[in-house]
Amino acid sequence: MIRKLSLAAVLGAVALPAMFMASPANAASCSATVESTDAMKFTTSELVVPASCKDFTVTLKHIGQLPKTVMGHNFVVGKSTDIAGINADGMKAGGAADYVKAGDSRVIAASKVIGGGESTTVKIPVAKLKAGEQYNFVCTFPGHSAIMKGTLKLGS
Ligand code: CU
Repeated sequence: MIRKLSLAAVLGAVALPAMFMASPANAASCSATVESTDAMKFTTSELVVPASCKDFTVTLKHIGQLPKTVMGHNFVVGKSTDIAGINADGMKAGGAADYVKAGDSRVIAASKVIGGGESTTVKIPVAKLKAGEQYNFVCTFPGHSAIMKGTLKLGS
């Protein structure tokens, strides 16, 4: 009897972590975390958005310490061919507008600007992404987009 109980306990101990591992993997398929740094970098260079998701939620974390007025970061998604225009108009819009022009129809998703130690989330409506189209995510804080730029595409 004791032996049976302990076997069950061992099996439970093995099965439980496996369940925990399985559920975050499923939940993570329609979301991703992108970190940004005081060194003006995103730690992610490519995102593939599963076509089965309704929304793809990106959590942007600023893992540095500098304030958002000095080293602020946001996460803005657009077609690769639109990014330069989105960025130029975003810079003109200024910090009060989180460096995104109000009502810019080229912008597929945009987060607010955050500083060191902060995080924010932004939802990408997957219906706005087309298969075969190239997209980028950038930070539109002035001077950042040349380096803070990654590719994004619709997956299968
Ligand atoms: Cu930035």
